[in-house]
Amino acid sequence: MDISTLCVTGAGQMGSQIAMLGALAGIETRLHDISREQLDTAVATNRKHIQRRVDKAKMTADELEAAFGRLTSTTDLAAAGRGADFVIEAVVERLDVKREVFAELDRACPEHAILATNSSYLMSSEIAGATSRPEKVCNMHFFFPPLVMRLVEVVRGEATSDYTLAATVELARRMGKQAVLLHKEMPGFLVNRVLRAISNEAYFLLENGVASFEDIDRACRLGLNHPLGPFELADFSGLDIGYNARMEIFTRTGHEEDAPAPSLKSRVERGDLGRKTGRGFYDYSTDPPTPTET
Ligand SMILES: NC(=O)c1ccc[n+]([C@@H]2O[C@H](COP(=O)([O-])OP(=O)(O)OC[C@H]3O[C@@H](n4cnc5c(N)ncnc54)[C@H](O)[C@@H]3O)[C@@H](O)[C@H]2O)c1
Repeated sequence: MDISTLCVTGAGQMGSQIAMLGALAGIETRLHDISREQLDTAVATNRKHIQRRVDKAKMTADELEAAFGRLTSTTDLAAAGRGADFVIEAVVERLDVKREVFAELDRACPEHAILATNSSYLMSSEIAGATSRPEKVCNMHFFFPPLVMRLVEVVRGEATSDYTLAATVELARRMGKQAVLLHKEMPGFLVNRVLRAISNEAYFLLENGVASFEDIDRACRLGLNHPLGPFELADFSGLDIGYNARMEIFTRTGHEEDAPAPSLKSRVERGDLGRKTGRGFYDYSTDPPTPTET
């Protein structure tokens, strides 16, 4: 499949950088969001990131300008989808919102367009029914920050065709990523399932008073050689992401052990969402960051 036009909807932490990857890969990329302010922030932040590559002589100023010349932004989803060969959805992690966005994309995009979701926890089969093309819907799951992280999980939905999977893997490769293919859907896919097992155990140890979260982080860094401990990683990804993902699972299962831990819930309720708000499990106004109270 010749992908010459890409549409990315949702210009937050993920979508902004995914769109940049598209533009860097030589693809005409349209970035959509409901918020004009968010779009402007996304483009400005991308410029800062890519300027660093120019400063380090990893790319030229002309290449930077060419990439930004391929990146446009709009608050009009139908306009963004019109003529797009491939769409990556990265809007808020809410099934109702994603289904609405997919229904509108289905109406706006050409018949051949593939519609992929970057959702971390929602499976594409839950969304595909909102479209008339379930065989062209799959998960294309990037990792934060997409400009840096090299992995993409490509997940087959109940109706996803081989062609859709092959085109998605190929797009990931063009964006400089390595794809792993999941042959069936399972909530959390692959990496996040492994991560959740570690993180659940970390919350269990913390909530049961076995160790402080800073010691659990230290133990995972020094004892397992992980670059970040589970609480440092939670702050890095955004505590709301972990909280919402746990709430989704908890709502489904009703099992108390699937509910967000009190130490996570209290921080999210206070608006302490990790690095992006300057405070989560750690306070980032100090150097080095200091552990916060519950
Ligand atoms: N943050 C991560 O580490 C991470 C990693 C992989 C995947 N994801 C997934 O990526 C998606 C986005 O996550 P994020 O962290 O970038 O969230 P975010 O909150 O930073 O950004 C979400 C964006 O969606 C926009 N939005 C809301 N409703 C919209 C609509 N109807 N149409 C278009 N835009 C709309 C918001 O204005 C916001 O800019 C989620 O599905 C999440 O599960 C997140």
